Amino acid sequence: MCGIVGYSSTSNSIDLSEFVSMIKSLDYRGYDSWGFTFKDKDHLTTEKQVGKIPTPTQKGNATFVIGHTRWATHGKVTEDNTHPHISNSKNISLVHNGIIENYEELKNKLKKEGFTFYGETDTEIIPNLIEFHLRNSKDILEAFKKTLDELEGTFAITFLHNSSNKIFFARRDSPLVVGVDKDALIVSSDVTSFIDRTKNVIYLEDGDYGYINSEIKILNRNKEVHREISKIDWDVDKAKKGDFKHFMLKEISEQVDTVKQSLMQDSELITAVANRIKSSKVYIVACGSSYNAAKAAETEFLKNGLMPRIVHAHEFEQYEKFLSENSTVLAISQSGETLDLIKAVKTAKSRGTQIISIVNVQGSSLSRLSDQNIFMNVGPEICVLSTKSYTAQVAILMLIASALVIKPNQAKQEIEEIIRNIYYLTSESARKYTKELSQILRYSNHIFTIGRGRDYATAMEAALKIKEVSYIHAEGFAGGEIKHGPIAMIEHGTPCIVFVPNKENQDILSNAQELKTRGAFIIGISEKKHEVFDYWIKVVGPDKFSPILRIIPIQALSYYLAVMKGLDPDKPRNLAKSVTVK
Ligand code: AGP
Ligand code: GLU
Repeated sequence: MCGIVGYSSTSNSIDLSEFVSMIKSLDYRGYDSWGFTFKDKDHLTTEKQVGKIPTPTQKGNATFVIGHTRWATHGKVTEDNTHPHISNSKNISLVHNGIIENYEELKNKLKKEGFTFYGETDTEIIPNLIEFHLRNSKDILEAFKKTLDELEGTFAITFLHNSSNKIFFARRDSPLVVGVDKDALIVSSDVTSFIDRTKNVIYLEDGDYGYINSEIKILNRNKEVHREISKIDWDVDKAKKGDFKHFMLKEISEQVDTVKQSLMQDSELITAVANRIKSSKVYIVACGSSYNAAKAAETEFLKNGLMPRIVHAHEFEQYEKFLSENSTVLAISQSGETLDLIKAVKTAKSRGTQIISIVNVQGSSLSRLSDQNIFMNVGPEICVLSTKSYTAQVAILMLIASALVIKPNQAKQEIEEIIRNIYYLTSESARKYTKELSQILRYSNHIFTIGRGRDYATAMEAALKIKEVSYIHAEGFAGGEIKHGPIAMIEHGTPCIVFVPNKENQDILSNAQELKTRGAFIIGISEKKHEVFDYWIKVVGPDKFSPILRIIPIQALSYYLAVMKGLDPDKPRNLAKSVTVK
C-alpha cells in the first residue's frame, strides 16, 4: 500500500506544488498521512501532514524531491510516524512502502549503537541503518546495499542524502517503476504519478537497487543491469474523473464498454488456456473482489465439467505441497501487485506450476511473473473499490469456462448479448431506483445479502461493496444457510437483499419468505416481481450471466449510501487500492 515518488530533474527543476500533485495522484494507494523532502544545496527540507492531501499550494522549486502517501502498518497515524523518515544526523530522508519484518531486532542493534527513535514505524530503522553503515564507508550506494542485505520483509524505498545529487531506490516485492521524461527521471510506486508527463517507463525487477540523477543506474546482486524502456498504452484521460463527481460512479458507468473490452481476447489464447486447465489440476487464486469473481464463475466451470479449487491467496500455503508441473494456477488480480497473491504465485512457480493470470495492470509484478497473461483491458481503476474490474474478471472467467465446451467466438457472442442489459443497468434512469433505495437504507445498522448458486457469490460481493464504502455492516449468505444460524439476527425491518434467478434454483424465494416471516424487509433483485418483495430492483438478463448483471445495482446502491452519508466513495477509511503488504 502507500505511494512513493522520487523526482530527479535532468534539466529544469520542479515546482513543489506540482510535485505534491504527483503524490496526490497516488493517494488512492494510501491516504492516512503524507509528506515530502526536497534538497536545496546540501540541506534537506521536510514537510509532513496527517490526513488526505489538500489542493497543493506549496511555493518554490526543487531539483531532487521524494514524497510519500502512507497506509500505516506499524505505528498510529501521527506526524511522528509520517514519512519521510529522517536519520539521526538529519543527513538522510527516506520513504518506504511495505513492512520490515526484523525491524525490532535492527532497532535494538541501532539503539545500542547510540541511535534514537522518535516514532513507532518499522521504516525509521532504514535511514538510520544506512547512516550506521556510512560510519565505515563514504560510498552511499555501498552503505545502502549493506542495509538492504540486513532487511527482511518487503519494500520499495527511495531516499535522499544531503551530500549527494542522487535519488536512491530499491525494491523487493513492492512495486516500483521509473518514468523517463525529457527533463526528469521519476521513480514511483505507480505510473499514475507521471502518466501526464511521460509514457516511457522502466519496470524495475525484484532485487533491483540503484539511483537516478541525470541518468539511471540499476544493480541487482551487485551487478549493473539494464532494463528496457516500455510504453504505457493507456490514455491520461482514463485516469481523470471527467464530468463525474467520483471515480466510483465513473467506473460503474463505464461497464458497458469495459465488459465489451474485456472480451476482446485472442481466441487462440483462450482455447489454449481452456485446454491447459482441462488437462491439469487447477487452482484459482485471488483476494477480495477478485476472489468473489472466481466464485461467481464457479457454477459455469462445474457445469462444463471442470472443478477448480478456488483459494484465497493468503490461505494458499496449505495447498502448496500438492503443486507440480501438472498444476495450473489461474491468478486473478486487478492491480497485479497484491502481495499475498504474488507470494502464492512465486511458490507455485518454484514448483514448476504453470501460471496464467487475469490481470488489469500491464507491467505489474503479476503480469511479469506469469507464463500467460489475459489482460482485462478496462483501463485504470482509481476508486479503491473494484467495480468495472470485477465484472470484467467475471466476463473473462465465463469466457474461459464456456471455451471448455464451445468455441471462444461463440462464447463471446453469448456474453455480448447482455451488453444492452448492462447499458440499462448503468444508466441514470436505472440508478433512480438505487438512489431511492439508498435513502431507505441509509440509517440501517445491518444489511444481509442472500443468494444461491452463482448468486451466492454475488451476495458475497454485494456485502463487500456495501460495507467497504458505506461502513454499514453487511454480510452475504447462501440462501440455504440462513436457517442454520444467521436468521437469529433478523428483527423487524432488517434489510435483506435477495438475488432471485429467472429459472434456476427458486428455493431462494422460500428463504426470502422465511426471512420476511421474522420481520425482514425484503429487497428483491430479479427480472420478475415476486409477492415476497417489499422493494424491487428489476434486472433483466439470462441467469447464466447474473453475476455480471445483478451486482451492478448494488455497486450503485453502495455508491449512493456513501454519498448520502457524506463519505468519500473513492477513498474509504482504512483501505488502499493496492494491497502490497501481508
Ligand atoms: C474490492 O473492492 C477491493 N477493495 C479489494 O477487495 C480487492 O479486490 C483485493 O484487494 C484484490 O485486489 P487485486 O484485484 O488488485 O489483487
Ligand atoms: N510500514 C510502513 C509504515 O507503517 C510503511 C507503510 C506503507 O507502505 O505505507 O509506515
